[in-house]
Amino acid sequence: MTKQQTWSDRFESALNPAIAIFNASISFDIELIEYDLTGSIAHAQMLAKTKIISEVEAQQLVSGLEQIRQEYRQGNFNPGVEAEDVHFAVEKRLIEIVGDVGKKLHTARSRNDQVGTDIRLYLRAEIRQIQGQLKQFQAALLNHSKNHVETLIPGYTHLQRAQPLSLAHHLLAYFQMAQRDWERLNDVYKRTNISPLGCGALAGTTFPIDREYSAELLGFDHLYENSLDGVSDRDFAIEFLCAASLIMVHLSRLSEEMILWASQEFSFITLKDTCATGSSIMPQKKNPDIPELVRGKTGRVFGHLQALLVVMKGLPLAYNKDLQEDKEGIFDGVKTVKACLEAMTILLQEGIEFQTARLADAVAEDFSNATDVADYLASKDVPFREAYNLVGKVVKTSLAAGKLLRDLTLEEWQQLHPAFEADIYEAIAPKQVVSARNSYGGTGFAQVQQAISKAESLLETNT
Ligand code: ARG
Repeated sequence: MTKQQTWSDRFESALNPAIAIFNASISFDIELIEYDLTGSIAHAQMLAKTKIISEVEAQQLVSGLEQIRQEYRQGNFNPGVEAEDVHFAVEKRLIEIVGDVGKKLHTARSRNDQVGTDIRLYLRAEIRQIQGQLKQFQAALLNHSKNHVETLIPGYTHLQRAQPLSLAHHLLAYFQMAQRDWERLNDVYKRTNISPLGCGALAGTTFPIDREYSAELLGFDHLYENSLDGVSDRDFAIEFLCAASLIMVHLSRLSEEMILWASQEFSFITLKDTCATGSSIMPQKKNPDIPELVRGKTGRVFGHLQALLVVMKGLPLAYNKDLQEDKEGIFDGVKTVKACLEAMTILLQEGIEFQTARLADAVAEDFSNATDVADYLASKDVPFREAYNLVGKVVKTSLAAGKLLRDLTLEEWQQLHPAFEADIYEAIAPKQVVSARNSYGGTGFAQVQQAISKAESLLETNT
């Protein structure tokens, strides 16, 4: 058996082929290659600045690394399992291109600080992209909201009709969730953008490196203060998967509502052909596959969060190969969140139409104005709890008589309580019911208009 050249001369025989496959991460960590090259270029420049290698050597390394970037982008760099991981694959190719000087690149570095650098460079770029997608999602919600300030929709608690709402108010609730998601990612970014480069395998290095310089070249805001922590910290990735999970929670809740709204029973929205699917057997069907898939994909992001927490919980300091298991979850978490945000944004932009006539009927045909009758009495000095009990009785007798509150005559109201006057009809009309909830953050139209203005300025200033 010929010896595999990856390891030092301590090793006499090659890895068992099945073990080589088991050990390798190249099939998935190739995703990091651009960041690995960028990190290695900064490392080479730092080695030259500190005179650990010469300027000429650094230039050779940098041009070799840039050549690998071109080869990769053109589809001509496809390392196999024998490379083990992206770091070895790049180093091996570099030596082929530039010769022995390539063997100097790994001076004062370990794959442990190298891979930590790569994931952070990858994740911070993805965080910024996801934040951009969140803004587009918010813009799509805001657009509908502006068109539907005075469109009413039943509001629910316990999925029972509760009080009517401005449709814009309902949609802006999701805008606010997305805003928190955006802010959370900003926060995760801060703890992602810290350089572990130069922490070495675990203890630092004997070479006179300049960690600040390589960090600056790579745009990191800070350095890990402790080398052991630097090579083994994955808190930032857990935080990211937590933030990603919350984005998915929010998308999944909206998905669930859209699925309900598109059902025949609700009929609050219709799905447009560009974003709906059919059945292979039932020709009448139009299915909400897109929100269903978003709801369904949510679980895998939660799974990645859980998996990484479990990977970390028993690890002694510092690097352990278990950490190689971080990558697939992070990559899939990123891809899933991005795909779902894109799909939901398109769905909002062009895939749904609110059925305004149906919505107007829906809010007129229930007892969701009952609180307003109680409030009416309370505003005329009847203690609220007393008013509440009285209205409960009215609802009971109306239900039995097959009537709605608006169908009661003034005499009937006044028999119930002398405080009722002719303005009760106005007070319980759906528009008035919504409009009157003008407390800060409520569904009253004036509040909703203010919420829209604030949302617009958040999007304009990209904060
Ligand atoms: N492929 C490895 C990973 O993803 C790179 C670091 C390997 N370090 C080591 N000491 N074996 O974690």
